[in-house]
Amino acid sequence: MSTLIKNGRIVTPAETFQADLLIEKEKIVSIGDLSSVSADEVIDAAGLYVLPGGVDAHVHLDLPMAGTVSSDDHYTGTKAAAFGGTTTVIDFISQDSDDLVSLVEAMRAKADAKAAIDYSFHMNITHYNEQVDRAIPELVKRGITSLKVFTAYNHRLRLQDGEILQVLRTAKKNGLLTMMHAENGDVIDLLIQEAIRAGHLAPIWHARTRPAWGAEESVARGAALAATADAPLYIVHMNAGGEVDQLEYARSLGIAVMGETCPQYLFFTEKELERPDGAKWICSPPVRTESDQQRLWEGLEDGVIQTIATDHCPFFFDGTKPILYEGKPVQIPGKELGKDDFTKIPNGLPGIGDRMPVMWDAMVSSGRFTVNQFVELTCANPAKIFGMYPRKGCLLPGADADVVLWDPEKRVKYGTAFSQQRTDYNLYEGWELKGFPVRVISRGKTLVENGTWYGNPGEGKFVACEPFHELI
Ligand code: URP
Ligand code: ZN
Ligand code: ZN
Repeated sequence: MSTLIKNGRIVTPAETFQADLLIEKEKIVSIGDLSSVSADEVIDAAGLYVLPGGVDAHVHLDLPMAGTVSSDDHYTGTKAAAFGGTTTVIDFISQDSDDLVSLVEAMRAKADAKAAIDYSFHMNITHYNEQVDRAIPELVKRGITSLKVFTAYNHRLRLQDGEILQVLRTAKKNGLLTMMHAENGDVIDLLIQEAIRAGHLAPIWHARTRPAWGAEESVARGAALAATADAPLYIVHMNAGGEVDQLEYARSLGIAVMGETCPQYLFFTEKELERPDGAKWICSPPVRTESDQQRLWEGLEDGVIQTIATDHCPFFFDGTKPILYEGKPVQIPGKELGKDDFTKIPNGLPGIGDRMPVMWDAMVSSGRFTVNQFVELTCANPAKIFGMYPRKGCLLPGADADVVLWDPEKRVKYGTAFSQQRTDYNLYEGWELKGFPVRVISRGKTLVENGTWYGNPGEGKFVACEPFHELI
């Protein structure tokens, strides 16, 4: 099967140019003036941008949390991703035992059968010992080349600083990139205890008990540990302006640190938590203030932050009521579990399908960023950082034919009616967006065309990531 996409505007991080693009089977085979070439299918992309499929480097599918589970699994979440123009996602493996290889096999078995787009995994390291250290090189052989550590969630996920240093060293030695969830676990635990004792149980106390200073000092601490280990570090879900300052400072010293932010931190503030439905915005780290947003935007503009991911980890707002999904009722306990106590609200937000459309509108349609910067931050950089480039994240001969046809003039009133995320709310409900994907192709197969779904569970393939080699 071959597909010729004619007359589109091809976008790379460096340039935009009018050209045709030929797909044969699952690969892009040529780009240029292909007017004399014939193909099984010819698509006229006049007036459209031709983008690489989006790469979302931070999602949580089917993740057990707080007595429930994140409401998108590896089928529904990857389907929603495709509807928004994302064709590759990277999920996390929870470290439920010290046998990391068995954990990988179990997650592969779960995801392989369901994923509708290509996917890979990061491994959480939340309990460190010699057995775990010895297993880390085995991950690389299985295509997993990134680890996540936490400075928060004491007695559950957090590692001590010395353990993080050891993980950084072993990761560096074996070609893995360490990622860090940067918050101050001790401060959070104390502030939560105090809030509970004082009867402060409303959602806003989620933000008040997780201060930005904790995130900022943790980024500085992470950079210090990375410098000590001479190892690269990637800060996930950056949310506070001071984190950008710390990252910029560390990078100016030549320390190999990079960072990611997510749309929720660019568009929302802790004021949302004071709404009657404030639980919808509960995630960790929390959404912050307008000045934090401004500094995060600057970080994207200046190249201090390299990627935009989602941290997609959805829950129903009201899990006592079913929604219809593919015509069948689905009901999963959600944010109502903490209706009287913010500490019991499952942490996380939907966003896997929203990312590309909301960011395009705010970046490209607004004129603030170029379409090339958009592609760099949402497609190319995550693929490079996580060892998938040039198979993913780019339009080049030899790359997987993950291609998105994007109509920059299409206007939509966005919300649950558009997004396919399996939950009962959308953070961007009613937003007027300009620019939308009209056709999404994954390894040569059209998954979405003008809102119709042609994908299937199990068609997504695991992407074995290369060892870390690209500091951006
Ligand atoms: O609230 C969030 N972000 N839940 C997912 C877990 C994490 O730390 O990324
Ligand atoms: Zn995290
Ligand atoms: Zn996360």
